[in-house]
Amino acid sequence: MIRAIRGVHDILPPESATWQHVEATARRVFEAYGYREIRLPVFERTELFARGIGEVTDIVQKEMYTFEDRAGESVTLRPEATASLLRAYIEHGLHVQPKPVRLYTLGPMFRYERPQAGRYRQFHQLDVEALGEEDPALDAELMLMLLEFFRALGLGDRVRLEINSIGDAACRPAYRARLTEYLTARAASLCGECRERIERNPLRVLDCKTPACRPVLEAAPRLADSLCAPCAGHFARVRACLDAAGVAYDVAPRLVRGLDYYVRTTFEVTSTHLGAQNAVAGGGRYDGLIKLLGGPPEAGNGFAVGIERVVLLLGQAVEPARPVALLIPLGQAAVARLLPVARDVRARGVAVELGYGGRRLRAELERANRLGVAVAVIVGDDELARGEATVREMKSGAQRAVPLAGLAAELLALGGRP
Ligand code: HAM
Repeated sequence: MIRAIRGVHDILPPESATWQHVEATARRVFEAYGYREIRLPVFERTELFARGIGEVTDIVQKEMYTFEDRAGESVTLRPEATASLLRAYIEHGLHVQPKPVRLYTLGPMFRYERPQAGRYRQFHQLDVEALGEEDPALDAELMLMLLEFFRALGLGDRVRLEINSIGDAACRPAYRARLTEYLTARAASLCGECRERIERNPLRVLDCKTPACRPVLEAAPRLADSLCAPCAGHFARVRACLDAAGVAYDVAPRLVRGLDYYVRTTFEVTSTHLGAQNAVAGGGRYDGLIKLLGGPPEAGNGFAVGIERVVLLLGQAVEPARPVALLIPLGQAAVARLLPVARDVRARGVAVELGYGGRRLRAELERANRLGVAVAVIVGDDELARGEATVREMKSGAQRAVPLAGLAAELLALGGRP
């Protein structure tokens, strides 16, 4: 037997109904804010991610599914959507549209991480990007929309918003130097991974979850104290907009994120109900990235939601659609009579399930029970001769005769259709 690859999941019914609900809610909320869908390929030239996400990030160094295609070109299964979306934005000249250009996309992403609860090698994101706008009100509006998405799913009180500013090219280098100096002096108290990161990507050290590293990191110089005046002003405006909208959030001074492209605002939505993988969404501003990828020097801003983690938070909350009836023909003549009835009812949007005449009545009634239908419709030779169907209420077991000519109307009424 061939099994699925480790860290990769099938999404089975009834859980797939929860996925549909999450996706439909996202589309409704995002589109109310003016975002439109863009569909992107799941693989790209490797160089796009190396340049876009950053050569020294964990994603690019350790987690990408990279291979040569048959022509010897290096291609990579996308580990995130932002770089692909910007590639498409630049390639198709979408920057000529009124700003900000608001786009969203959803689908599978691939990262070769160590699988655990809430962390997979193929996972799915809802990704939102707003391009070409520097105003801090946009950062706040994106967070508002993200929280509205969780509220619409009934998860408003299971998540919290954390925000930070990580400065820009004007103020971050000096901070980085101070931090490197601070961490180097205390390297002996840090874990191996942190020590390795001090030179390569010192900001990421701040994000370490190892308890032993905590004391050193908590006393580390804070980025918030090193922001240049424009970055500090931008961050103050983001917070003022959130405050004005009555949004609750925490300022998280060590929130640095795992991708290199961020400047100024970064944010995450976390939940205490998810265990170690507690981030259900993350994002921020990435002014400069569009230019780095060969486009115009424009601002950018966005976030991605991990759908698996949203589904984990929801649990089995969404009831899948059920058929209202099982039609049980007893014999081939009854099958021929019921097939078009089923088609007509289904064409009006009411789901019914049809038997094929070969099973015993008892087995079919047992199936009706397991399907959870309201009624079973039994048609045997006797019924056919009388031009009737026997309609059995599954809960009470009560049976009544209904003329075959009126059966479709009866089933439509059960499905709430006139
Ligand atoms: P990210 O923080 O790497 O950001 O991923 C966003 C979300 O995807 C995470 O908060 C998490 O819920 C989910 N996620 C990430 N990795 C996994 C995994 N291995 N298994 C399950 N879920 C996972 C980005 O990807 C950025 N592109 C977000 C962004 C968009 N920033 C600006 N625009």
